[in-house]
Amino acid sequence: MVTVRQPDATEARRYISRLADVLLDCVAGGASVSFMADLTKSAAEAFFLKCVDGVERGERILLAAFESDELVGTVQVITATPPNQPHRADIAKLLVRRSARGQGIAARLMENAEEASRKAGKTLLVLDTVTGESAERLYLRMGWTKAGIIPNYAMFPDGRWCATTIFWKSLL
Ligand SMILES: CC(C)(COP(=O)(O)OP(=O)(O)OC[C@H]1O[C@@H](n2cnc3c(N)ncnc32)[C@H](O)[C@@H]1OP(=O)(O)O)[C@@H](O)C(=O)NCCC(=O)NCCS
Repeated sequence: MVTVRQPDATEARRYISRLADVLLDCVAGGASVSFMADLTKSAAEAFFLKCVDGVERGERILLAAFESDELVGTVQVITATPPNQPHRADIAKLLVRRSARGQGIAARLMENAEEASRKAGKTLLVLDTVTGESAERLYLRMGWTKAGIIPNYAMFPDGRWCATTIFWKSLL
């Protein structure tokens, strides 16, 4: 039984270690999610602490998926946008630990992210994801539109180059 929570900053700070473990697991699995293979637990925790500071400032929404008591996945909505894009938000760091994949947890997180975005007054969502990986199929299934591909945009944790696909979705 999976539940998705939108913790406030105080609650989210209690999850920092477990959020870091999900990120470490994804990077160990070869996911290109900003970090290289030498990512440490303390660097992963520092990343999420910064994110939670953003939650406190009202600049980000953080969602966490739990299977029983285990934190198995997370996603963020970055709501802080320039003054001429108040209707827009970015989706970032959709992460599900390897042992929990293939049962719709990412889809649940994305449904909840869309709902939270709507509540925050957002009508246009944008994200980028590694070209050719399973997340692309997920976004296409969930009604996102592919805007294009940028070659050699980032690296996999082992240093190989990867392209990124930019997606958008209107919530209108
Ligand atoms: C991409 C990612 C978030 C997907 O997480 P997930 O929870 O496994 O995603 P879902 O379960 O919703 O969908 C994955 C697959 O399981 C299938 N699935 C979902 N529920 C299912 C069920 N109950 N029974 C069988 N299959 C199921 C989906 O159809 C999908 O199939 P596909 O890969 O052939 O398209 C996860 O692989 C991940 O964390 N990857 C590393 C980080 C990453 O790349 N993040 C995206 C960055 S933008």
